[in-house]
Formats: sequence, C-alpha cells, structure tokens
Amino acid sequence: MPDAAAETILRPARAADVPAMAAIVADSAELGLMLPKSHATLYEKLRNYVVAEDPHTGEIVGLCGLSIIWADLGEVVSLAVTPAARGRGLGARLVDAVLADADGLGIRRVMSLTYEQRFFERLGFSVVDRQKLPMKVWAECVACPKKHACDEIAMIRVNASIPPAVGSPAPGVGVPGLSAPVVTARLTRDGSVMVGG
Ligand SMILES: CC(C)(COP(=O)(O)OP(=O)(O)OC[C@H]1O[C@@H](n2cnc3c(N)ncnc32)[C@H](O)[C@@H]1OP(=O)(O)O)[C@@H](O)C(=O)NCCC(=O)NCCS
Repeated sequence: MPDAAAETILRPARAADVPAMAAIVADSAELGLMLPKSHATLYEKLRNYVVAEDPHTGEIVGLCGLSIIWADLGEVVSLAVTPAARGRGLGARLVDAVLADADGLGIRRVMSLTYEQRFFERLGFSVVDRQKLPMKVWAECVACPKKHACDEIAMIRVNASIPPAVGSPAPGVGVPGLSAPVVTARLTRDGSVMVGG
C-alpha cells in the first residue's frame, strides 16, 4: 500500500488555500496551542507559508510559516497538521521546508514558541530563555489570552554555516551569540512591553 504521508505534497501556499489554513489553525487555537489567524492575516502573509496537500483529495492537511524577525532571527509560525494526518512525519517535513526557506534567505537562527519540546529537539532546536528574545517577538502576545501566564517553551535552531549577521541589532535581543546587546523585555499586566527588569 502506498505511504499516504510520503505522497503528501508540500508546496507554497496559494490564495485558495486560506480558508482551509485558517480552519486548521482555528482547531489548534481552540485548544490553546496557538493563536488563531484571520483570513486577512493569512492573505497578507501568504508568501510566508508552505502547505501539505493530499494529492488524492486535494485537501490541505497541514501548514507552517516563517516569520522574519530580524537579520539573525526567523520564527516558525502556525505549524499545524490535521489530527488524522499526524504522527507520520508531515510536521517534521513542514518545519524542514521552513528551515530550508530560512537558510535560503541567509537567516542563521530560527526560533519557535511551543509546547512540543521533543518534536523540535529532534529537528535540531534547543531550549533558550524566552525572556531574552527580541521585543518584536512579543508583539503578537498582546492579543493572546495567555499573555499573563505564558507557558510556551522558546527554542532556537542555529545554522552555523550561515555567518552571524552584521548591522543593526534587534531591540531587546539577549540570546547568547545574537548580534545585539543584552536587554530583556517582559509583558506587563496591561499587555504593554517593558524593557529591562
Ligand atoms: C506538532 C504537530 C504539528 C506535529 O505534526 P506531525 O505531523 O504529527 O509531526 P511528525 O509526524 O513529524 O512528528 C510527530 C511524532 O510522530 C513521530 N513520527 C514521525 N514519523 C513517523 C512515522 N512514519 N511513524 C511513526 N511515528 C512517526 C515523530 O517521531 C514524532 O514523535 P515525537 O512527538 O516523539 O517527536 C501536530 O501534532 C499538531 O498539529 N499539533 C497541534 C498544533 C501544535 O501544537 N503545533 C505546534 C505549534 S509550535
């Protein structure tokens, strides 16, 4: 019998995929695993996304995006696979596709805020102190219901063959080796970002 997961096609997202992408993200968002994504946001960021498509049915069964934070840092966003298609390597293939995209763009580090520590460790990510990530990472947190009690794990994968970026540092970066000063940032109870402390 053919391996359905191996046959699943990974390809850049298209505009017609957006309703399915939003629905997959919404299912995980309802479980508190990620933030929901509006259709408007997905259309706007469409070029950031890769989708997994069942070649037999044309159904979109997974997606993953790369958000570029700074010269030295990208982020894996909206990684989700439909429950029926999980556990067969699709999630890993989607992350690999996004990492290849980051490599092609010369982005040395890619981070993820996740509950799936073991999954990301297998893909070469390591846990870092999330309080020391750039302020820009926390922009979306203002809209998150868990913003006062975030328990996601911050993880980073470094492509050592890409040289560290030169030029302007990301405000508030404190991850060792990133080209920026150590300045920590945290969310206050009213949702604003406080630098230091
Ligand atoms: C996290 C998520 C994307 C993983 O997708 P997936 O397609 O199940 O991922 P994979 O199949 O590549 O890996 C999942 C597990 O199956 C295992 N696996 C992979 N291929 C396999 C195969 N052919 N046979 C058996 N097991 C396999 C992997 O080893 C992995 O095990 P681990 O959890 O111990 O690391 C999916 O569970 C999901 O959508 N979760 C809800 C949303 C979410 O939490 N997203 C993460 C936000 S950062």
